[in-house]
Amino acid sequence: MTTNPPMAESAAPHVPNETMRAWAQQRYGGPETVEPVRVPVPTPGPADLLLRVRACGIHAGDARLMRGDPALVRLAFGIRRPRTATRGIDVAGTVVAMGAAVTGFRIGDEVVAEIGVGGGLAEYAIIPAARAVSRPARISPAVAAALPVSGGTAWQALDAAGVHSGSRVLVIGASGGVGTYTVQLAAQRGAEVWALAGERALDLMTDIGAAHAFDYRRVQPGSPEIPAESFDAVIDIAGTVPLSALRGLLRDGGTVVLVSGAGGKILGPMGRMLKAVFLSRRRRRIRSLAATAKPEILAQLLELTAQGTIRPVIERTYPFHAARDALAHVDAGHAVGKVVVTVE
Ligand SMILES: NC(=O)c1ccc[n+]([C@@H]2O[C@H](COP(=O)([O-])OP(=O)(O)OC[C@H]3O[C@@H](n4cnc5c(N)ncnc54)[C@H](OP(=O)(O)O)[C@@H]3O)[C@@H](O)[C@H]2O)c1
Repeated sequence: MTTNPPMAESAAPHVPNETMRAWAQQRYGGPETVEPVRVPVPTPGPADLLLRVRACGIHAGDARLMRGDPALVRLAFGIRRPRTATRGIDVAGTVVAMGAAVTGFRIGDEVVAEIGVGGGLAEYAIIPAARAVSRPARISPAVAAALPVSGGTAWQALDAAGVHSGSRVLVIGASGGVGTYTVQLAAQRGAEVWALAGERALDLMTDIGAAHAFDYRRVQPGSPEIPAESFDAVIDIAGTVPLSALRGLLRDGGTVVLVSGAGGKILGPMGRMLKAVFLSRRRRRIRSLAATAKPEILAQLLELTAQGTIRPVIERTYPFHAARDALAHVDAGHAVGKVVVTVE
C-alpha cells in the first residue's frame, strides 16, 4: 500500500461527467455480447477508491466470466446474466475520489489493483482501497495493468510448489499470460526452468529465462526430451496432460501445481481437482491452486518490474474503443503473454 499520509476526510469527487463510457454485457456469451454503453460513474463506498482508469489488463479469467463458463461460476456471478456487467479485473489508474473511511491515499495517486469480478473496462472503476498498490512512476499504466492476476497467480503457483534456487521446474503453458511470469519468476528464484509452450514463443522462452523450451504440439511430457522423474516442480497452466503423467514427471519429493484444468461445461476443472486429491502422494504431491488477490505480492511484482528484473510480455495493446477485440484475442486462447486495453 502507498505510504502517503492519510487523508483527513473523504475527498470530493473530481469527476468531470456524471456518466462514463464502459463495455458491458447483458447476457453470457462470446465477445459479441460485450457492448459499448454509457452508464453513471459509480460512487465509491466508505472503504473504496474511485479510479480514472488508464489501462486494464485482460486475461483468461475475464473470458471465462464473459462466457459464464463453466456453468458453476454462474452460481457466484449471476445465474441468468453476469451480476457485474462490465468485464476487466486488472486496472491501473488515477485516484479521483474515495470513501470517508479510506486512509493512506490522496487524490491524484497513481495505483494498480486487482478488483473483484469486473468493472475495469470503463473510464472509471471502483476498487477496495485495501487492494490498491502505488504504481512506481517508472512503470507505465499499461505495463502495470498487465501484472496483477497473471503475475500474482504465477507467484502463488511457485510458492505452492516450493520452488527455490536449484529447483528444476517444468512450466506447461509457459507462453501465456500466467506462463510468461512463471518462467521469469522461477528463473529469478534461481530455478532451472523448462518451458512447454506455443511454437511461436520458443525464442521468447529462452529470452525470459528458460533453459529449455519445447513446442507443446510436438513434444509430450514424459518423452525423451522431457523425461519422467526429472522435476522438483511442475506448474501446469494448460490443463491438458493427464494427472498420472504429470505426477510421473516428478522426482521424489516433488510437487505438481494445477493452475488450470480442462473439464466439462458444467463443473469445469472440479473433477480434475477432485481426482488430484486421490492421486496425490506424500512424496509426489499434486496441489490445485486457487489464486487470490494479494496486494503484498503485487507490490513486489511492481518493484521487480521497476528494477528490470522481470519484464511483462505484452503481445498487444488495444485502445478503449477496441476493447471487444482485446477480449476476443484472449478468448481465442492463443495469446503470447498479456493483452492490455488503454483507456484514452
Ligand atoms: N487457478 C487459478 O487461480 C488461476 C488464476 C489465473 C488463471 N488461471 C487459468 O490459467 C489458465 C491459463 O491462463 P493464461 O491467461 O495464462 O492463458 P493464455 O494466456 O490464454 O494462454 C495461451 C497460451 O498458452 C499456450 N498453450 C495453449 N495450449 C497449450 C498446451 N496444451 N500446452 C502448452 N501451451 C499451451 C498457447 O500457445 P498456442 O497459441 O501455440 O496454442 C498460448 O501461447 C486459464 O485456464 C485460466 O483460467 C487459473
